Amino acid sequence: MSLNSFGHLFRFTTWGESHGPAIGAVVDGCPPGIALGEGDIQPWLDKRRPGTSRFTTQRQEPDQVRILSGVFEGRTTGTPISLMIENVDQRSKDYSEVANAYRPGHADYAYDAKYGFRDYRGGGRSSARETASRVAAGAVARLVIPQVRIRAWVEAIGGDAIDPANFDDAQIDANPFFCPDADAAVRWEALIDSARKAGSSLGAVIACEATGVPAGWGAPLYAKLDSELAAAMMSINAVKGVEIGDGFAAAALRGEENADPMRPGEAGPEFLANHAGGIAGGIATGQPIRVRVAFKPTSSILIPVETVTRQGEASNIQTKGRHDPCVGIRGAPVVEAMMALVLADQSLLHRGQCG
Ligand SMILES: Cc1cc2nc3c(=O)[nH]c(=O)nc-3n(C[C@H](O)[C@H](O)[C@H](O)COP(=O)(O)O)c2cc1C
Repeated sequence: MSLNSFGHLFRFTTWGESHGPAIGAVVDGCPPGIALGEGDIQPWLDKRRPGTSRFTTQRQEPDQVRILSGVFEGRTTGTPISLMIENVDQRSKDYSEVANAYRPGHADYAYDAKYGFRDYRGGGRSSARETASRVAAGAVARLVIPQVRIRAWVEAIGGDAIDPANFDDAQIDANPFFCPDADAAVRWEALIDSARKAGSSLGAVIACEATGVPAGWGAPLYAKLDSELAAAMMSINAVKGVEIGDGFAAAALRGEENADPMRPGEAGPEFLANHAGGIAGGIATGQPIRVRVAFKPTSSILIPVETVTRQGEASNIQTKGRHDPCVGIRGAPVVEAMMALVLADQSLLHRGQCG
């Protein structure tokens, strides 16, 4: 069984490994006639690109995308769109320690237990290099739903959260952390520097909001928009938690506190709150869709951790190589891409059933 595809009508498949010649995605089901060029995809890849600051991995990948198929005279043809990104900065020798001993927290042991054979160079297919392909596919998805605006930001790093009162959308692209709070961004610099110097790593919470999603997208029960989004976000490397709207905090509220009161508005009901995160009964209400995603700390760290070798002997592993001190930061553009991919799919599904 191979599970490298996601989506129903707007469906994408990713391929490639961290240290292979290239990675990419095949996007199938994209409506025809949409203007698409590499310039529509590249800016999103540039946001996720490694090596842009000392707070991310120092692997230098230009992440230049090439469209190999599915576009003619600048427009999608309705046939599979193949996207390719070359790997140019592989250093496989950096991973010699991983060849024989498993990194606790990474996928090394689990892949070996399943397949009995693995490409350990840079984590092979389990490397988050794969997420560049999702970002490329997500850029195509955005063009299917131009009325939707998707924005993700980092809400907390290492347990240090932004102050919502300081939220400034313009700040998100003004610092290396996708941080909307200028004060928090200053604190995070010191926080990440100290974790990195100690050979450690930090986790992060990413928030993502989609506005302009019309009421009605989604489906009840087994394909709730909540579950589609949760599956999409949970499929991202290092993600260990997903909340829709108030999520776990809703369990501590009373009914009247958690209700999103409604009153008549000019274009249908107007909501006075959004605890539900824009989804009720699995279907969009027209309110902003709100998701929060928890990324664990990077498991490849310099601090030695107890492990076992492939031969089952006790060992200690210290992962050198080049790693993100906080994977959640570069996770933000990936969260945006997954939101776009789910919503593009939902727009086609809704049109298919309801016209
Ligand atoms: C953008 C991004 C970059 C990542 N970079 C690294 C990294 O440099 N080193 C590492 O050990 N894990 C990194 N990860 C996380 C691993 O890919 C992930 O922990 C691993 O595949 C195991 O899967 P799991 O954590 O989902 O169980 C990264 C994740 C993301 C989303």
